[in-house]
Amino acid sequence: MNNYVKIFDTTLRDGEQSPGASMTSAEKLEVARNLARLGVDIIEAGFPAASPDDLEAVRRIALEVGNPPRGQEQAKVPVIAGLARANKADVDKVWEAIKGAAHPRIHTFLATSEIHMKHKLKMDREQVVERVKEVVAYAAGKCPDVEFSPEDAGRSDPEFLYLVLGEAIKAGATTLNIPDTVGYTTPDEFGALIAGIIKNTPGMHDGITISVHTHDDLGLATANALAGIKAGARQAEVTINGIGERAGNTSLEEIVMTLKTRHPVFGLETGIDTTQISRISKLVSNYTGMAVQPNKAIVGANAFAHEAGIHQDGMLKHNQTYEIMRPEDVGVSQSRLVLGKHSGRHALRARLAEMGHSLDEAELDKAFARFKDLADRKKVITDLDLEALIADEFYRPRDIYALDGLQVACGTMGLPTATIRLRGPDGKIHTHASIGTGPIDATYKAIDSIVKQAVTLLEFNVHAITEGIDALGEVTVRIQPRDPLSKIDAQREIAYGRVFGGHGADSDIIVASAKAYLAALNKLITAQTEADAAAKQDYGVMLG
Ligand code: KIV
Ligand code: ZN
Repeated sequence: MNNYVKIFDTTLRDGEQSPGASMTSAEKLEVARNLARLGVDIIEAGFPAASPDDLEAVRRIALEVGNPPRGQEQAKVPVIAGLARANKADVDKVWEAIKGAAHPRIHTFLATSEIHMKHKLKMDREQVVERVKEVVAYAAGKCPDVEFSPEDAGRSDPEFLYLVLGEAIKAGATTLNIPDTVGYTTPDEFGALIAGIIKNTPGMHDGITISVHTHDDLGLATANALAGIKAGARQAEVTINGIGERAGNTSLEEIVMTLKTRHPVFGLETGIDTTQISRISKLVSNYTGMAVQPNKAIVGANAFAHEAGIHQDGMLKHNQTYEIMRPEDVGVSQSRLVLGKHSGRHALRARLAEMGHSLDEAELDKAFARFKDLADRKKVITDLDLEALIADEFYRPRDIYALDGLQVACGTMGLPTATIRLRGPDGKIHTHASIGTGPIDATYKAIDSIVKQAVTLLEFNVHAITEGIDALGEVTVRIQPRDPLSKIDAQREIAYGRVFGGHGADSDIIVASAKAYLAALNKLITAQTEADAAAKQDYGVMLG
């Protein structure tokens, strides 16, 4: 058995379908580019049958990330996968979306547990087997790389699984992905399930990859996936920060860093450049507005912080007393002083390039202006500050309403009042003043008066990026429209709960808060436009 574990990232499919994680097409493309840089083997780019917009996002990723850049034909590019329910129409949509990639993959699934077959599919075992044979063969007729998942495998009868998987192999599947869809199994059970599948599935051979796909309902996703890998699985389906349905999916960073840190235990390799982990974690958190809990393994703000005196004493004597990984292994730059007030454009370009951002001249002009503005207010500028500036300037959603000016009066002497100036979609400037219970409430009320979207603010997080009184503040928000965006979206809302996230960074936290709120509202308005267009086409919605 080989010792390479393929990393299949499903942040853009299983991750994106979790409540509030929706990203715009441009954000998905940017995440896909960064996943390729991270070195993932397979990117599941989406569910093309969900909507024309989802199909288009997958198609762009297939073309732009799934092919080597011109002149670098030998460069490694990831496989681009799309998910299809077990019907020919879904498979056709996936194929249409991914066929432009150098290495396309069709991923199809059908439930095999009694509870799913009886209540959801209303199919018996024979019908399920027939459908799997038919759809996998149909997919294999289009694409040489086909993955099949027996949904809810964790609660399926193993004997029935062997039969279904054997038929999937015969019909042309080359990867068999075993999902613990509802996060129900324990590591011993899941490891035994994988071992049983490898041993008992008819037609199993070296060309078949067994994959693990686990959910975190009982907090066991990583442990279960590792047990499956120990039992012989050589693909792990994961998401950045573990985002995904309900309690989430197995997180990429936990699997990869366990295999690396405990290499003597597993003896397995991945192709991941672990120094990219911290950066992509922030990117996904910013785009989705889903803050990473501070104590989250590997990527939480406290993952490498040592607070207790006894720990700090140990760390000063020898860092391995309390640290099993080095922060730099996952790309956490320790408030590194990189640039200051007198640094020039060239130094900024060079540092950004080292950090993986290659900007064109116009983008560099914008970044330099933001950098100079910050350097006037903050003495030392670290990599973390630069990441926040870049995310704020270039990775925010398309500006429908853009902040043009903000003035806030607050304190103990009067009513908190905000006057806001926004540039609207028509290019016109809109100004409004509001009072509120505090400066942020006043600012958001003033924005609401102009943008006129009925939303509930579900979550508001603010934190300082670096230490010190002059630190850059970063704000993430999550909002939910009070009315469904359209008829079609009302159905999506039942499936996912439609929540929009936004991110903003500035040395003034009220400005950062306004930017974050506007980013979320801009996403909502974009989604509304797309939903209206989709409703006109009477497109099917994803409920699988
Ligand atoms: O959790 C699950 O069962 C899935 C499948 C579609 C692979 O996400
Ligand atoms: Zn899943």
